[in-house]
Amino acid sequence: MTTFEVFDVYADDDATMQELRGLLARCSEATLRSRCHGGTPGAARLLLEALPSRADQLTVAAWTEQSMVGVASMLYDAGGIEIAVLVEDAWQRHGAGTALAARLAEEAARDGVLAVTASVGTTNTAGIGLLRKVFPALALAAPRGGLITAVCPVVTGAGR
Ligand SMILES: CC(C)(COP(=O)(O)OP(=O)(O)OC[C@H]1O[C@@H](n2cnc3c(N)ncnc32)[C@H](O)[C@@H]1OP(=O)(O)O)[C@@H](O)C(=O)NCCC(=O)NCCS
Repeated sequence: MTTFEVFDVYADDDATMQELRGLLARCSEATLRSRCHGGTPGAARLLLEALPSRADQLTVAAWTEQSMVGVASMLYDAGGIEIAVLVEDAWQRHGAGTALAARLAEEAARDGVLAVTASVGTTNTAGIGLLRKVFPALALAAPRGGLITAVCPVVTGAGR
């Protein structure tokens, strides 16, 4: 299995942001829609490119030796912490999503957070499978509006 390096993404790091734009350009419409729960590919790319400059988030990226292949964010708000993960099509099913979600789980555990949430489409087998792998004790809420909220208890070392 490929080994991925996971690093924080900072909006003022021009080279990293250029890589992020390249990654988003390579993602299919289906992948972008799954990550953003609909919308146009253009809007999804703009949203995801803008995320690292927000104050209420942590964004991390997975890299091969050649390029950035995935990105994941943890969004903090009064209601809790929500995570979301995206891996470009050509690199899906190689472990990058696991590496990204496990890194966010470690960050949450370090902050003393007991659980994070994630929203996935009801037909998103890959997304639900990823969450089950990294957060084995997760609880799925009843679907609403085509989305399921997963409450994911944080355990360090998960998904390894
Ligand atoms: C969901 C997503 C991030 C998974 O990333 P990934 O790098 O492919 O995931 P991994 O290779 O680490 O796989 C982790 C687990 O997810 C599940 N999984 C991933 N892709 C799957 C698929 N196509 N079908 C079924 N299960 C799948 C498996 O349980 C897998 O574990 P295994 O390889 O030991 O069987 C990726 O498919 C993606 O970017 N999808 C579009 C965006 C999205 O849906 N985001 C929401 C997630 S919060």
